[in-house]
This record gives sequence, structure tokens and C-alpha cells, in this order.
Amino acid sequence: MRNNRYRTHREIQKIRLAIVGCGGMGHRHMYGLAELHRAGWEKFALVGACDPVQANAESLAAQAEERFGTKPAVVGSLEELAAVGVDAVDVTTTPPYHHTVAVETLERGWHTMVEKPMGLTVRACNLICRAADASDAVLSVAENYRRDPVNRLAKALLDAEVIGKPRFLIHHAIGGSNRMLISVWRHQKDQSGVLLDVGVHYSDMIEYLLGEVDTVYAQTRLHEPIRHNPAAGSGESGSNPAGVYTKWQQKMPAEFEATAEDAAYATLTFKNGVVGQYIEDHGAWGQGSWLRQIHGSKGSMTLPGDRSGRLISLNIAGQETINDERLLSLVPDFCLDAVTTDLFGGDRLWRYEFPFAQTDAKIIAIEYGDFAEAIAGNRTVEVDAYQGARSVAVSYAMLESCATGSIVSLDAMLDESVDTYQREIDEGLGI
Ligand SMILES: NC(=O)c1ccc[n+]([C@@H]2O[C@H](COP(=O)([O-])OP(=O)(O)OC[C@H]3O[C@@H](n4cnc5c(N)ncnc54)[C@H](O)[C@@H]3O)[C@@H](O)[C@H]2O)c1
Repeated sequence: MRNNRYRTHREIQKIRLAIVGCGGMGHRHMYGLAELHRAGWEKFALVGACDPVQANAESLAAQAEERFGTKPAVVGSLEELAAVGVDAVDVTTTPPYHHTVAVETLERGWHTMVEKPMGLTVRACNLICRAADASDAVLSVAENYRRDPVNRLAKALLDAEVIGKPRFLIHHAIGGSNRMLISVWRHQKDQSGVLLDVGVHYSDMIEYLLGEVDTVYAQTRLHEPIRHNPAAGSGESGSNPAGVYTKWQQKMPAEFEATAEDAAYATLTFKNGVVGQYIEDHGAWGQGSWLRQIHGSKGSMTLPGDRSGRLISLNIAGQETINDERLLSLVPDFCLDAVTTDLFGGDRLWRYEFPFAQTDAKIIAIEYGDFAEAIAGNRTVEVDAYQGARSVAVSYAMLESCATGSIVSLDAMLDESVDTYQREIDEGLGI
């Protein structure tokens, strides 16, 4: 039941929002919300910070007060949030809780934005899909990479067939050695291993750019069963996006066992005939590399790293490389949406330059803008439950393919008829 007694007139105009899960990404989302408001899109009132770890909720609420002038209520459960009175929640818990929280919030009629991966397994995603279908509330997946203005331009260039008909994709992300990636849970099979945690971003980007994946064949490996955390004690910081993880990383063990695979070597086929070569290796030593390159019937396009603001490079047969403002002349109708334009300071961008934490906040702000517009009924969300489930399915298809030694179809992933690898995780979740 909503409690209207404490609402100010100004707040009634706004969507009463709570952040559920106040760890690293919860804090980054709050910074993103502040960035959205700074850009003039004051769509939300942050009224709740929810986390069973009270210190985390308290930290987020205190920092929110510095930014918004009012302190959200600090609560430990959805029941307590109901008493605060919310219209919408932003779910930034660790992945095992995405479906438990989102199904309940949708049933309560609260608009729900869920961080990626939408669910811990395909089955968990399907539970969210069904809850979203049964609810009048909006369900949005907070998938940030595709909202990067440079990725928007890449998509426009592909749609304009500047490189002709796409034929093949090379996606390589290679590095990592035996260091902990942000946190211990990212190396645990039952909590979202790194191939899901990072891979789901790439899966979403790949389908955003090239359409639906049809089949996957992969070899996966666990190369580094012992991971090291350089930040343990008060050591140097390790992998730490936007610098928010330090206080938690210092309390994590210096070394620990990893149970989740850390490398995938895959061949993907797409429904439109494109073939992809995909390497995601988080246990690689020596020379690291990152490459996202698409070859078509007239040329090729090399994309920069997500959220880097760097340059797209186009090579069209018979022409010199195009990697500057001339990219825009190839897509005269390309135009960023209003929120992105206000956040990044231009509606036709081919590059940008901000410190990472600022870029991160701006792109999260775009997610909130999309969510607010969908709640207002102005449009449907960009990344819905269906796409959220597909991205999780593409990532797990690699692990299922290796577990079964076969080519796996996305349809079989989505209808859960292939679940050899995920079964143990589903059993742990009790679903
Ligand atoms: N899009 C991105 O670029 C990006 C980056 C980092 C993390 N993420 C995603 O954000 C989510 C959170 O990651 P993180 O790095 O913040 O993890 P984290 O471990 O730093 O924080 C998770 C928080 O969730 C809380 N929590 C756990 N169960 C809860 C529940 N039932 N209700 C409320 N709170 C609960 C924990 O106490 C903790 O405070 C993950 O899904 C992760 O994949 C996305």
C-alpha cells in the first residue's frame, strides 16, 4: 500500500524510486540519477535505499543526500519499502536475487529496472518474463553498453549499410591473468561467473548490432582456479570501475578459489547469415587485446571499447580509412535521443571525452531516462525482458555447448530444453 501522507507537492510529480542493492552498482546508479537530474531531467524522487547490509544502504543514502538534498529512507526489505511508498525500483543486487526481487516488485505493481544479467540463469529470466507479462508495471533491463553514443553511431552506420551487408564479426576480449575481477562472486558459478557478468554485455551488443544469434558452438575453460585480490588489506586497488569498490575489496580475501569458467572460444551464427568468432578470455597472460570488428560486403568497421568515447574506424573498399567527423556525413539522419543529447552535449556525436566515472554516470542516466519515459507511457523500454533473457541465453549457450559437446540453438536455450550446465545453479536457486 502506498503511503501518500509524507509526499510533498513536488514529489507527486515525480516517480518515487528506491534503489534495491546498495553495493558498487547501486552507488553508481545513484550517481547516474544525479547526473540525469543535473541535465534537467528531474523525473525521479529517490525515496528509498534498500539492502540487508545496513551499512551499504546507509552509505548510499548519505551520499544521495549530498546530491539531492533529501535523504532516502534506509530499509532492509521490500516489505519496509512498501511502507515508505514507492512507484518504481531499480534492482542492483547481486544476480542470484534479481528474479526474487523483480518478480515480487512486479507483483506489487512497482515499475522495475533490473541490472544485467537480468536473471542468474535462463530459467530465472523466464520467471521475470512471465511476471512482467502478468503485470501492468514496466520492466526494463539496465544494459548500458549499447547506450554509449559511439555505439549508437556504429549501429546507424551498419543500418545504413555503409559496409554493405554484414558477413562476419570478430569479438575478442583477452586479458585478466589471475587477478580478481571486481569481486569474489564474479568468479563463482552459482553467483554469476565472469563469462556471464561481462559476457552478457557483449551478447547484448552483438545482437544490438547484428540481430538475433541463432546457434553457438564453444569451448570454455577455467584457466585460473585461484584468483588474487591485490586490494586485500590496504593493498593497491585492483579492477575497480568508477573507483567505488575499494572499501569492499579491502575486506575480501587475498586469494580464493574460482569455480566459474573464465574463458570462452566460440563460433556464433546469426539468423541473417552472419558468422561470429568470439573469444572472451579473462585468464590470459601476456599481450591482452580487445577487438570488435565487423566485415561486410563493401568494407569493415572497427569499434572502440564500450564507454571509451574513442573512434570508430571504417574501411570501405577503394577509400582511405574514415575515423573522424566524416563518419557523420555517411548517416545524415543519425540523431541521438533527447536525454542522451542533453547528457553528452550534442545530438550527433562521433566521439566524446570525459573521465570514466562521468561517462559511466551519463550512460546510467540514459537508462533512467528511458525507464522514466516508459513509465510515463511515452515509449516502450529499449531493453525489455525478452532481450534481457536472450542476452543471458547467448552467454550460457557457450557454457552449455561445451558441457554437451554440441552446437546449441538459442531457441533451445530460451525454452530451457538445454540446461546441462545451468541445472546445478537452478537447483541451488530452488527454481
Ligand atoms: N552495467 C554495468 O556496467 C555493471 C557494472 C557492475 C555491476 N553490474 C551489475 O550490478 C549488479 C550488482 O553488482 P555490484 O558490483 O554492485 O555488486 P556488489 O556486490 O558490490 O553489491 C551488491 C549489493 O546487493 C546487496 N544485496 C544482495 N541481496 C540483496 C537483496 N535481496 N535485496 C537488496 N540488496 C541485496 C548486497 O548486500 C550488496 O550491497 C550485478 O547484477 C552486476 O552484474 C553492472
